[in-house]
Amino acid sequence: MKSDERLPDHIAVIMDGNGRWARKRLLPRKFGHREGVRTIDRVADDVFGRGIGYLTLFAFSTENWKRPEDEVTGLLSLFDNYLTKKLPKLERDGVVLRVIGSERGINDELRGKIAEAYERTMRGTKGNLTICFDYGGRADIISAVNRCVELGEKVTESTFPSFLQTAGLPDPDIIVRTGGERRISNFLLYQMAYSELYFSDTLWPDFTAKELDDILETYSRTDRRFGGIGEKR
Ligand code: FPP
Repeated sequence: MKSDERLPDHIAVIMDGNGRWARKRLLPRKFGHREGVRTIDRVADDVFGRGIGYLTLFAFSTENWKRPEDEVTGLLSLFDNYLTKKLPKLERDGVVLRVIGSERGINDELRGKIAEAYERTMRGTKGNLTICFDYGGRADIISAVNRCVELGEKVTESTFPSFLQTAGLPDPDIIVRTGGERRISNFLLYQMAYSELYFSDTLWPDFTAKELDDILETYSRTDRRFGGIGEKR
């Protein structure tokens, strides 16, 4: 990545491929998720180290509750551990940790940790890490609409985003999906209207700084027109 290249403000990632990564090694799927957390650490350091302000990760979707119970329990416990173990480093590094999604399926203790993580990091100025847990784009839009209805408020494109769970975050400039599938799987449906999409065949635990570098280089060369005619015409 050259120093004069245009960087995005916000990268969002669908971290797919943990299960296949583990299966390829004849390991239970949970080993893939565990390795996936290591990739989160590497990618977050890399993103914030480059001066990119926002990284949003899809860790658990509203549909992931359909997975076998032991996998769901494993993911909940990885998430819980992540909050406990990584909080001091995020706090030191000045990274704000937000968690968005429904909190319906999680217990009070985990809910408390989520709140504490935000309270302890909210004054950070280096970066913003948002973990989407039990998150669904449709659920986000529907609950925002219901709130507007309750308040009797008529919204516009500039006021509606403040009702979404991503309120205060810029829209993602880039959405990356690893793991070879080319779909959005109910991620940031409203927010991604003008996001650049990158689909990688790499399984999430194998995702490297070099690949992120290639994505950033391609992004830097992209003429983003937002429906207009852009700079290159
Ligand atoms: C998709 O891979 C990945 C997930 C559903 C979970 C992503 C979760 C992590 C990286 C770890 C949890 C971390 C935190 C901080 C909560 P998959 O299981 O669908 O893989 P497959 O498509 O190969 O089966």
